[in-house]
Amino acid sequence: MTTPSIPSDRKIVLVTGASSGIGEATARHPAAAGHHVVLGARRTDRLALLTKELSAAGHSAEYAELDVTDPAGVHAFAEGAPARHGRIDVLGNNAGVMPLAPLAALRVAEWDQMIDVNLRGVLHGIAAVLPSMLERRSGHVVNIASTAAHRVDPMAAVYCATKYAVGARSSC
Ligand SMILES: NC(=O)c1ccc[n+]([C@@H]2O[C@H](COP(=O)([O-])OP(=O)(O)OC[C@H]3O[C@@H](n4cnc5c(N)ncnc54)[C@H](OP(=O)(O)O)[C@@H]3O)[C@@H](O)[C@H]2O)c1
Repeated sequence: MTTPSIPSDRKIVLVTGASSGIGEATARHPAAAGHHVVLGARRTDRLALLTKELSAAGHSAEYAELDVTDPAGVHAFAEGAPARHGRIDVLGNNAGVMPLAPLAALRVAEWDQMIDVNLRGVLHGIAAVLPSMLERRSGHVVNIASTAAHRVDPMAAVYCATKYAVGARSSC
């Protein structure tokens, strides 16, 4: 779903993981402020509902299916906005997962998922938007870390590790 061209005084704001929670709430703010939001996540049914709701309220929104663990898919998501609107002003790098368990439970598949989504996914987002932002000398990447980037919980050791890494990355 797309919208007509966006006036230059409006920001083009991409939000990953916009189908629920913090990403959904985050997307509502720039939309309500008159900016154009591009919503990404895997659950497109939820994105479609949110886009419909925002559009019905007179806001500017579109959505696209996105799996942040797929670098090519993240590039395609990010390239769509400049193709349609000429630029990306903000990337909200929000998509994340937090399955909880002690390390001794050895849920290695969940560890890998957290690294793939919370860390690699954030890096894929940066890689997809940074070149065009540097070229334009304009743009912001907002990485959603957590208080878990500052303290370790025994039920969330790998989650905290990913968020520490996101925090380190965001300090550059
Ligand atoms: N909740 C908290 O207390 C809290 C506190 C601090 C930081 N955070 C961080 O805030 C962010 C959002 O968390 P939340 O609490 O709002 O959780 P949530 O409601 O479960 O939302 C997570 C979002 O991430 C998306 N997502 C998961 N895997 C994805 C993938 N492979 N590709 C694309 N999108 C994916 C989900 O969409 P789909 O499933 O539709 O793909 C969903 O939209 C996370 O980075 C989390 O670590 C949360």
